[in-house]
Amino acid sequence: MQLAGNSAFVAGGGGGFGAATARRLHAAGAKVVIADLDETRGKTVVEELGDGAVFVRTDVTDESDVREALAAATDMAPLRVTVAAHGGPGGKRVLNKEGVAQNQSEFTRVIDVFLSATFNIARLGAEAIAASEPLDDGERGVIINTASIAAYEGTIGQAAYGAAKAGIVGMTLPLARDLAPLGIRVVTIAPGTFLTPAFKNADPVELDKMWGAAVPFPKRMGRPAEYAQLAQQICENIYLNGETIRLDGGLRFTPKGAK
Ligand SMILES: NC(=O)c1ccc[n+]([C@@H]2O[C@H](COP(=O)([O-])OP(=O)(O)OC[C@H]3O[C@@H](n4cnc5c(N)ncnc54)[C@H](O)[C@@H]3O)[C@@H](O)[C@H]2O)c1
Repeated sequence: MQLAGNSAFVAGGGGGFGAATARRLHAAGAKVVIADLDETRGKTVVEELGDGAVFVRTDVTDESDVREALAAATDMAPLRVTVAAHGGPGGKRVLNKEGVAQNQSEFTRVIDVFLSATFNIARLGAEAIAASEPLDDGERGVIINTASIAAYEGTIGQAAYGAAKAGIVGMTLPLARDLAPLGIRVVTIAPGTFLTPAFKNADPVELDKMWGAAVPFPKRMGRPAEYAQLAQQICENIYLNGETIRLDGGLRFTPKGAK
């Protein structure tokens, strides 16, 4: 699918993966909606991109917020792409050092934000993309999800996160099968360790040394632009569908992650 003349909804568009993807899709000629909870981050990206980019303050767990942001995209051009690249709460060990169990509500919150909200974007995004006219080969658009390699080898403290991300991997094929008659593809990216603002307030050089050393090749953390490059390829390559693609330099997490 050609991106030029179409629109894309990017959840978490003010963050590392989201902003890089918005930049890339915008450069390829797409109109983009930056749907993010954080107004400052979202508006900074929109100011950088200029024409053809709008910010809509969005909580991805909320149906009316997501609908509003999708409508802003369809107002600009036919909606063809949704990207779920929002962040969420961190993890904890199931028992703390005193042997006390993690709160159940913390588990369900992680599932709500990472997994249920990704489904929320997929279902509402599919509804909006389905209203766009089919292109060549009957294609209408593509839904891009973000999992993690923690879906396959979650580390200590990642029971909830690993479950949420495995859920995203698990729903990729059934969603693609559901939406195939409409010409809507579904593809998930499972990143390894990328240098994004998710690693709050840490020195990037130290982070790269710490996390990059365990990556077989290239021996460094991933760059958000590399995620965005794959997102663009997923948009443009009609034969990618129903699959989760690891983007990790060959990294496999150990129990403590990449250390
Ligand atoms: N950075 C990595 O190494 C890495 C690796 C694997 C997977 N991932 C996944 O990629 C996704 C994006 O990660 P990132 O590193 O770009 O994070 P980030 O912190 O740089 O960006 C996340 C963005 O999501 C926004 N956000 C948070 N909650 C939201 C909500 N409820 N509604 C809308 N927006 C919300 C934040 O404001 C932020 O702008 C996450 O799902 C993360 O789990 C990241």
